[in-house]
Amino acid sequence: MKALDLGISRRTLLVGAAGVAVGSSLRIPAIAQGAPIKIGLMLPYTGTFAKLGQFIDNGFRLYVEQKGGKLGGRDVTFVQLDDESKPEAGADNMNRLVGREKVDLVVGTVHSGVAMAMVKVARDTNSMLIIPNAGANDATGPMCAPNIFRTSFSNWQATFPAGKAMYDAGIRNVATITWRYTAGAEMIGGFTENFTKQGGKIVEDLTIPFPEVEFQALITRIATLKPDAVFAFFAGGGAVKFVRDYDASGLRKTIPLYGAGFLTDGTLEAQGAAANGVKTTLHYADNLDNPANIAFLKAFKAKTGQDGDIYAVQGFDAAALYDIGLKAVGGDHKARDKMVAAMGAAKIDSPRGPLSFNKAHNPIQNIYLREVRNGRNELVSVAQANVDDPARGCRLT
Ligand code: BEZ
Repeated sequence: MKALDLGISRRTLLVGAAGVAVGSSLRIPAIAQGAPIKIGLMLPYTGTFAKLGQFIDNGFRLYVEQKGGKLGGRDVTFVQLDDESKPEAGADNMNRLVGREKVDLVVGTVHSGVAMAMVKVARDTNSMLIIPNAGANDATGPMCAPNIFRTSFSNWQATFPAGKAMYDAGIRNVATITWRYTAGAEMIGGFTENFTKQGGKIVEDLTIPFPEVEFQALITRIATLKPDAVFAFFAGGGAVKFVRDYDASGLRKTIPLYGAGFLTDGTLEAQGAAANGVKTTLHYADNLDNPANIAFLKAFKAKTGQDGDIYAVQGFDAAALYDIGLKAVGGDHKARDKMVAAMGAAKIDSPRGPLSFNKAHNPIQNIYLREVRNGRNELVSVAQANVDDPARGCRLT
């Protein structure tokens, strides 16, 4: 685990802690003392998902800045922690945030395996957790809990609509390719469920350990199989490399490349022309023509100098969701039941389009079919409107 100090000085943290001690009386509620809400950002700031973590972080902070540095009327302080996308360190890192740092909310993370370790700790310690990316189906399935929300997607949800979209495009035989870990298996699983239901056939499932990027042998295998199309899940640095390698192999023109939208989101600058024509499904497209998206992209560019993407949107919406919860309780985050009820009932005018939550606290949202054109993930159609994850195994009512 690496504790970072990127956007908040150590002094700020110490001042926050001192404020509680000086005000001292343990009988005066923190809110009455004006103590800041303390938020732990547990994200990958290094490794293949580093850019994803940074964009989530920037998106969250952008929302807070737009609210004058406050959420629910309370000042906010941050603790950053680099989870390095290492599942084996996930529980210790989460325990450090909720135990030693005593944060009021943890926002994290990107990698499904790390997120599941966080979910277990959040359940055991009844800590508030908002997942701003990781799609592990179980987090809003059998492991769902009142204190756990997600502002991203379930892995099933992001790819299920692609099965029909590809079948409707006349594709009948598909080879899949992904990293061998939870998100890879579940993204391919969602796609396969729908594609085979339509009558399509999977000719082979190809995998490579996370986060390896030596794709050549697998691409050679695709050339031998000659499927109608390929469906892929990779993200971040791995997605950049895969799309470039696939293009360099010459296959892109004869065997069209499809995938979960992470294949081309936040990656296009590095992929360049190699990504042209790649079609994906995701809960976002760069050119969604709604006022929230237009304003968001403008503000994100002004803050960071970079183009916003789905990761930034998910971070932004995580802050919006917590703001709604805190406002409902006048900033008193200890009024947990009321705060959670308000968050569960939230209807957010997100840059992605309308965003609400199911009983398991997973988003209900449109999934779009996009195509890369001129360096942008452009909207082709709504692949499926208001997609709701079945939340299999979730016992919340
Ligand atoms: C995941 O591990 O859940 C994940 C990582 C990157 C992009 C999308 C999902």
